Amino acid sequence: MRDFFPGLAGVVATKSNISSVDGQQGILEYRGIRIEELAAHGTFMETAYLLLFDELPTSSALRQFEEDLLIHRRIKYRITDLIKCLPESGHPMDAIQAAVAALGMFYPATNVRDPEARYWAAIRLLAKLPTMVAAFARLRHGDDQIQPNDNLSYSENFFYMLFEQKPDPAIAKMFDTSLILHAEHTMNASTFSGLVTASTLADPYTVISSAIGTLKGPLHGGANEAVIHMLRAIGSVEQVASFLDQKIEAKEKVMGFGHRVYKVKDPRALILQELAQHMDKDQKPNSLLTIARAVEQEMEQRVGHKGIRPNVDFYSGIIYHQMGIETDMFTPIFAMSRVAGWLAHCFEQYQHNHLFRPDQIYEGPHNRPYESIESRKPSTSAI
Ligand code: ACO
Repeated sequence: MRDFFPGLAGVVATKSNISSVDGQQGILEYRGIRIEELAAHGTFMETAYLLLFDELPTSSALRQFEEDLLIHRRIKYRITDLIKCLPESGHPMDAIQAAVAALGMFYPATNVRDPEARYWAAIRLLAKLPTMVAAFARLRHGDDQIQPNDNLSYSENFFYMLFEQKPDPAIAKMFDTSLILHAEHTMNASTFSGLVTASTLADPYTVISSAIGTLKGPLHGGANEAVIHMLRAIGSVEQVASFLDQKIEAKEKVMGFGHRVYKVKDPRALILQELAQHMDKDQKPNSLLTIARAVEQEMEQRVGHKGIRPNVDFYSGIIYHQMGIETDMFTPIFAMSRVAGWLAHCFEQYQHNHLFRPDQIYEGPHNRPYESIESRKPSTSAI
């Protein structure tokens, strides 16, 4: 009997220099630098550069990188038209997945061995994703798309394209910090799905669109949206204990808790919680943050002994909610940031490529006869 690891838990799928997690001690490093350091001193632009090029940028390298990103923020009117054609009730993750796949048709980067082609694909994806996310957020409500503002930083510009006004510098800084914290996280589900696609030597746009599809699920990036729905459903601090008892009794997952790797509180959740507290100074009795903190306390008593603690998605949605961003835009914002890590892994895979093709244990029958249509019985299998 061959070994079988459901969900590939604990299986080493690749060697990488990009990031590392110590799930027992709650340490996350990008290229060897602790995320606390990056969050305190860095910007998302520097972080994206670090992930792609293995070093923090010099000031001239950063200037060039930011300039290249700045001139590629705009999207073709045909991409805008594509976004306009999508149903407004559809999920924004589906919209950006479609738009990213379409980008690859406008800017073919099929020669993945060419460093120039890889660089410009990375620049276009990083630069245009925020524009596409903001475009869908506005167009679906019948509002005009707002063109990027070249005088604003990456994070300020995203707010400007969403709300038609420049954000308060403190808000822009907090948003930028949250992008730093979401930019990379070793061999998670969406990165692995991107890696499998990259291993076929598909172009970076195709790689990123498959990673976006994987990030959407509620067990992965979609949890940040699900957390807000859950906190709203709980409604008040008094309801927390009975809500959790029912969930745990029914063996249902509490969104924003648990992690395949972390057995302590996710270090990103610690920083995001601080940011959320900073934004909710009044600590209103039943604010989402107040309810969230009560959920964390009650969860600790119930499942803390199993190492189930808040993950990155637990407090991130609260911050975006406090910033006035619509709930279903949270996971697309996660994708805007994680594209940096996905690209770094994609390029690493191209350099040492080996096609992913795992095995399976077949459990079905063999040598079944081909029955005539008259003698067949209706299928009883569910799909
Ligand atoms: N709420 C309640 N119980 C939980 C939770 C949770 N969120 N997570 C795990 N458990 C329990 C399980 O019921 C199980 O209990 P048992 O051993 O008594 O049966 C045990 O912990 C192990 O659970 P698994 O699902 O096997 O753990 P796994 O490592 O596969 O799950 C996962 C990790 C998928 C993240 C899970 O914790 C979960 O579904 N969490 C909720 C969704 C979520 O927040 N996802 C975001 C993760 S971070 C990210 O992707 C960006």
